[in-house]
Amino acid sequence: MSLSAQEIDKMREVCHLAARTLQFIKPYVKPGVTTNELNQLVHDFTLENGAVPAPLGYHGFPKSICTSVNHSICHGVPDDTPLKEGDAINIDVTPKKDGFYGDTSAMFFIGEVSEEVKKISACAHDAMWKGIEAITPGGTTGDIGFAIGKFIQKKGYHAVKEIGGHGIGKVFHTDPFVPSFGKKGRGERLKPWTCLTVEPMINQNSDKIVEFSIDGSDIKYYETHDKSLSAQYEHTILITDTSYEVLTLLED
Ligand code: MF3
Ligand code: CO
Ligand code: CO
Repeated sequence: MSLSAQEIDKMREVCHLAARTLQFIKPYVKPGVTTNELNQLVHDFTLENGAVPAPLGYHGFPKSICTSVNHSICHGVPDDTPLKEGDAINIDVTPKKDGFYGDTSAMFFIGEVSEEVKKISACAHDAMWKGIEAITPGGTTGDIGFAIGKFIQKKGYHAVKEIGGHGIGKVFHTDPFVPSFGKKGRGERLKPWTCLTVEPMINQNSDKIVEFSIDGSDIKYYETHDKSLSAQYEHTILITDTSYEVLTLLED
């Protein structure tokens, strides 16, 4: 279902808040801070801005953000472990405002990090942009997956296959599935005036992942099988009639 002009404005607003949320949390992501403290800061910031943190209670998820550290791929649950120098963390936020969802995530570095961490994070970032730039109205999810997958492979990393982007709007997760691999022209057609996320997850050594359950939730948490590094970035995108608009991008 394509969005009305009013609905698109609401998506723009909640996605702008999502982007501001990552900007807000950045100075707090320092050695010694716990992911629970980051969770609380984002929780309060979201409410102060007239929104609610959509992850909290979503399929029983216990926290307001996802915090995925080092070898964690996604859906990391905030806890009382302090972050330490050299760690890399993906913080994934999704405010819900006026009935609409804005979903974005980014990597943050704790103090000085290794070249390995910088390289895999840069690859995840650039892979996300390759995917975004492959979006055309009338194109397909396979076009996005192909662009992402080709780039990741060229850099020697491994795209996670089981999890990926999704349609978003009045619901948090809907069709289409947006893969980080695939063939041009395959998959579902991209519809003008709908939104989706592009959120490649990439691993250092292989695409093999390990799934863990989260107490009281049917959301799963994922890690790399060998505890090697993983990285991810995410934006929410509006497909227009001629192109696309990255809704979770801040103008500076
Ligand atoms: N924000 C995540 C995504 O990018 C979803 C988190 S669902 C949760 O799709 F329940 F784990 F929070
Ligand atoms: Co998402
Ligand atoms: Co997300």
